[in-house]
Amino acid sequence: MEDNIKIIIAGEEHIKYVPEILQTIEDAAKVRGTGIAKRSPEYVEQKMREGKAIIALDDDRFAGFCYVESWGNKQFVANSGLIVVDSYRKHGLAKRIKQMAFALCRTMFPDAKIFGLTSGAAVMRINTELGYEPVTFAQLTDDEAFWRGCNGCKNVDILQRTNRMYCICTAMLYDPKTHEDKPEIKDLIEKLKDKI
Ligand SMILES: CC(C)(COP(=O)(O)OP(=O)(O)OC[C@H]1O[C@@H](n2cnc3c(N)ncnc32)[C@H](O)[C@@H]1OP(=O)(O)O)[C@@H](O)C(=O)NCCC(=O)NCCS
Repeated sequence: MEDNIKIIIAGEEHIKYVPEILQTIEDAAKVRGTGIAKRSPEYVEQKMREGKAIIALDDDRFAGFCYVESWGNKQFVANSGLIVVDSYRKHGLAKRIKQMAFALCRTMFPDAKIFGLTSGAAVMRINTELGYEPVTFAQLTDDEAFWRGCNGCKNVDILQRTNRMYCICTAMLYDPKTHEDKPEIKDLIEKLKDKI
C-alpha cells in the first residue's frame, strides 16, 4: 500500500489538511484513552510554513503526519504529533514518517539531542530502531515551554505530583554524540539538505 504514498515536507499548500490532522489526532487519543498534548490549528499551520512538518499523502488523501519542535535554545528537538490514519496503519507508514521527521531534525539541528515522550509500543519500537534509548525525565529538556505541552494531558496530575520525575509516558532520547546515523538516515539527510 505504501508504495503509492508520498512522504514530504509540508508547506503552505498543505494547510488545508490541518483540521483533518487535528481531528484525527484527537479521535485517536479518545480511542486509546490516553492523554495528549493539545495543539492549536495556528501552531500546526506555522510548523508547515516553517518547513518543520512531514505529511504523508495517498494521492491527495491525508494518510499521516508528524512535526518538529525545538526546545532549550535548540539543544533539544522532538518529533511530535505523530499520527497515521486508521486505514493506513500496520504497514510501516509511521516508521517511514518518523524516519523522515528524524532526518529533518538531524538536518536542521545537527548537534541537538532528539527526544520523545510516548506511551505507545509502536513508537517505542520505531524510536529504538533509530537509536533512541529510554532515559529518566531528568535527562530531558528543562524548558518550561515543553512541559507546558503536558498541561492538556489527562495524566498531568501524575507529572505534577512527582515533581516532573515520573509519568505514564516513557522518555526516549537520541544523542548524536554517542550514536551514528544509519545509512538510510544518512541518505535522507543528504536529500533533505538540498530542500531546506
Ligand atoms: C502509533 C501509530 C502512529 C503507528 O502507526 P503504524 O503506521 O501502524 O505503525 P508501523 O506500521 O510503522 O509500525 C511500526 C512498528 O510498531 C509496531 N506496531 C504498530 N502498531 C502497534 C501497536 N498498536 N502495538 C504494538 N506494536 C505496534 C509494528 O509492528 C512495527 O514494528 P516492527 O518495525 O518491529 O515491525 C498509529 O497507530 C497511530 O496513529 N496511533 C494513534 C496516535 C498515536 O498513538 N501516536 C503516537 C503518539 S506518541
